[in-house]
Amino acid sequence: MIQKNDVIRVTITDLSHDGMGVAKADGLVFFVDNALPGEVIDMRVLKVNKRLAYGKVEAFIETSPHRVDTLDRVYLRSGIADLGHLAYDQQLLFKRQQVKNVLHKTAHIEGVEVLETLGMEQPFAYRNKAQVPVRRVNGQLEIGFFRKGSHDLMPLEDFLIQDKEIDRLLVFVRDLLRRYAVKPYDEQAGTGLIRQLVVRRGHYTGEMMLVLVTTRPKIFRIEAMIADIVAAFPAVTSIIQNINDQKTNAIYGREFRTLYGKDAIEDEMLGNRYAISAQSFYQVNTEMAEKLYQTAIDFSELTEEDVVIDAYSGIGTIGLSFAKKVKVVYGVEVVARAVEDAKKNAERNGITNAYYVHGDAEDVMKKWQAEGIEPSVILVDPPRKGLSERFIKASASMNPKKITYISCNPATMARDIKLYEELGYKLQKVQPVDLFPQTHHVECVVLLQRSKE
Ligand code: SAH
Ligand code: NI
Repeated sequence: MIQKNDVIRVTITDLSHDGMGVAKADGLVFFVDNALPGEVIDMRVLKVNKRLAYGKVEAFIETSPHRVDTLDRVYLRSGIADLGHLAYDQQLLFKRQQVKNVLHKTAHIEGVEVLETLGMEQPFAYRNKAQVPVRRVNGQLEIGFFRKGSHDLMPLEDFLIQDKEIDRLLVFVRDLLRRYAVKPYDEQAGTGLIRQLVVRRGHYTGEMMLVLVTTRPKIFRIEAMIADIVAAFPAVTSIIQNINDQKTNAIYGREFRTLYGKDAIEDEMLGNRYAISAQSFYQVNTEMAEKLYQTAIDFSELTEEDVVIDAYSGIGTIGLSFAKKVKVVYGVEVVARAVEDAKKNAERNGITNAYYVHGDAEDVMKKWQAEGIEPSVILVDPPRKGLSERFIKASASMNPKKITYISCNPATMARDIKLYEELGYKLQKVQPVDLFPQTHHVECVVLLQRSKE
């Protein structure tokens, strides 16, 4: 029997969906951080459950030719770049294989080709958004990242995959908070003022938004700090405060206050201009999100006859990208502020045939159906948990010719495709797109087509 603390020699045979090395020994499946397929390691056993077990690398006996060892281990341990130790071309293959596996295992689909993952030329410094916790470490206020699976802050200045200008602003604000002796949040004690810094930077416009997440409304000497920030970073056009006094992992509390400038920044995607407020979702990798949207548009083969539903529409970035090519777009989104943004975004881009509704997608689909709306294409872009059975049934009963599904979680996507196939839709095309280089996250767009006439 293998026990905790044993050291055994194993060969890594696979990578789990979240980028851990997989090894089999003694009828158990072990997950090992920082271990790649083909590698032989001496593994120390960390934990053994019924059939699952965890180990860590004690020594590498043989390493993979695909290993990248220039990357500081800090990024692996922080989860910022949990695939950063794998060569980028292999990351792209891994993501394609993930999608294939899950379609096969969950949806029992085989005949459909999964296209090669679209990747980035420069797969670093791509994130247009940072969410960084602020804590005290060794007596000093620090920004950084939590160690994987914990709330221990690892201080960092270079976040590797974030826009370098964002990192520069973060370090500047950190130094300012130190200088003004602002107290960092202490989770255990529930004390301190500043919890998180959130920064967004428009990929094309360079406009920056800084959000200070605090436990209380009052920030001592905030006017002086704002003056310092905008003097050093004229591109900061918006400074927002969010108040979160709850013991929670959620970043934002309910209340947002604009401390300086506008309450939204602007950016561009596929030629349209967008206002993006703090609470709205906006794809973090603009360059690849444009490729993702373009793929979805191409898959849908839109014409001026098309009536399109854009479900989970956020600030409207997908629907508005093709609105001028189709008859009408109906969008639905659950975050009220994002719906306001979407309406304004339609207007600012001179689009008059896109309508946005605030609500739960399931309910609004039912309402649209009752109103007699007959979509020819339904485009969905749900969060990680995917679609509900109710949504899938409601959408299939509207009988669109095509359903274009954008997913950030292949497992729930495959589950949903299976149900669509049972309801008379057939999977036609699958395109993984790498929105999150150096991490295990897989984004994908698929086309389903109605098989009955
Ligand atoms: N299509 C947009 C947003 C995609 S993210 C874009 O590409 O930018 C998913 C969106 O679904 C988020 O904006 C989230 O607020 C929204 N959402 C989550 N649950 C929802 C629900 N039940 N009904 C409608 N929208 C929902
Ligand atoms: Ni995951």
